[in-house]
Amino acid sequence: MSDLEFFLLLLASISVPLVILNLIKRKQSGLNLPPGNTGWPFLGETIGYLKPYSATSIGDFMEQHISRFGEIYKSNLFGEPTIVSADSGLNRFILQNEGKLFECSYPRSIGGILGKWSMLVLVGDMHRDMRTISLNFLSHGRLRTHLLREVVKHTLLVLSSWKENCTFSAQDEAKKFTFNLMAKHIMSLDPGKPETEQLKKEYVTFMKGVVSAPLNFPGTAYRKALQSRSTILKFIELKMEERIHKMRGGGLENMEDDDLLGWVLKHSNLSTEQILDLVLSLLFAGHETSSVAIALAIYFLEGCPNAVQQLREEHLEISRAKKQSGELELSWEDYKKMEFTQCVISETLRLGNVVRFLHRKALKDVRYKVLPVIAAVHLDPSLFDQPQHFNPWRWQNDGNRGNSSSWSTATNQNFMPFGGGPRLCAGSELAKLEMAVFIHHLVLNYNWELVDKDEAFAFPFVDFPKGLPIKVRHHNFT
Ligand code: HEM
Repeated sequence: MSDLEFFLLLLASISVPLVILNLIKRKQSGLNLPPGNTGWPFLGETIGYLKPYSATSIGDFMEQHISRFGEIYKSNLFGEPTIVSADSGLNRFILQNEGKLFECSYPRSIGGILGKWSMLVLVGDMHRDMRTISLNFLSHGRLRTHLLREVVKHTLLVLSSWKENCTFSAQDEAKKFTFNLMAKHIMSLDPGKPETEQLKKEYVTFMKGVVSAPLNFPGTAYRKALQSRSTILKFIELKMEERIHKMRGGGLENMEDDDLLGWVLKHSNLSTEQILDLVLSLLFAGHETSSVAIALAIYFLEGCPNAVQQLREEHLEISRAKKQSGELELSWEDYKKMEFTQCVISETLRLGNVVRFLHRKALKDVRYKVLPVIAAVHLDPSLFDQPQHFNPWRWQNDGNRGNSSSWSTATNQNFMPFGGGPRLCAGSELAKLEMAVFIHHLVLNYNWELVDKDEAFAFPFVDFPKGLPIKVRHHNFT
């Protein structure tokens, strides 16, 4: 019996008494709520909502609900009464009013696996403190210098390992790139070293649990992920102890603080437990999301040769100018010239929707869970012409259908791939830099084709079921 089947059986067995309770509760409540279905007690409509569907769509389930009830409807998801919003204005309002009218509220299982000090779970002052540390670490200054260099190095490391005419998983390669980058940036781990590879392996098991049903029984993905979590935490703790030892030996000045671990030890008052959860969750936030985004770009571009052609022209011009001036390394000024690339990035994030919905709860009037579905706004035909179509050129004007002539990326208020308000993604600039640098080296050095038909699915986390198998041919376009 699969995890899911077991989960369903368990829920069914406790659902009958809950039906009665629910009926009583419904009679009592005179709340002014939008229309909708609350489905089965406790289970609600969660199974239908989570049924996998093409990542470039909102799925049949949501489509049917929107056409029946409108863009804001009542449901019962993840064990709680929920208001689902596919409305751009309401989503923005919810995110902007974080801490005042609404508050971040992920399912308890997420806290169990990412840790109670993870930024996704924290609210209030503690969240603010952790966020400040993350933003310091991902600051503009660090991006321009240190991080840009690292992003280039790790891109080239992965691309140079690609062999012609061999089939490989583009998704795995993208994961290798983002994992190596984050492991270096967070704990100074070097790619290819046994300890880095071991940690990567544990992370794969860990990830399977983050996205599985939260069943803590022997043999389930969730239980295995909890075990991996403790192995990963032991590893991070060991690294911490090594650093503290060094610190005692050589004084603070001699300690590496070029990575996150060194920085928090030197500049923060966080406890060991808090540091462990911060490191673990940044490694998670920083590598899963951008790797999917890069795989999506490879996938969409393969189906859009005109965009590849225009990208190649843009990057060739940058590369030629560098050659003429005798410069070798890609600079921040080069990055700023990648205008069409930014359109491709925005379009990839709009259509692929790496993060599809966010979890919040209402703090005032009613204690209700709210689910701003950012993917539904990105795929709304009244906001984006032909939303299912990969069209990076739409970002050349005002982001959808306007007539301004200036290039515009991500200024459209309906475009929220990184969330919004006080919890806006701390790594959004790093993610865009990673995508741009990867695209730069990819289009200048390779032609690629899909070997087997594969498609991004929302599970609801976005994944290519076959790993996006591709074949490449090396070309030096410079
Ligand atoms: C394309 C890639 C990425 C996407 C689509 C993405 C998306 C998001 C979204 C939607 C949120 C908001 C969650 C919420 O409001 O509940 C978020 C939060 C966050 N992201 Fe990203 N992310 C990406 C890459 C990264 C990277 C590279 C990092 C770097 C470590 C990162 C670190 C974080 C952190 C720390 C938060 C929590 C912010 C807070 O709670 O204040 N993300 N991300």
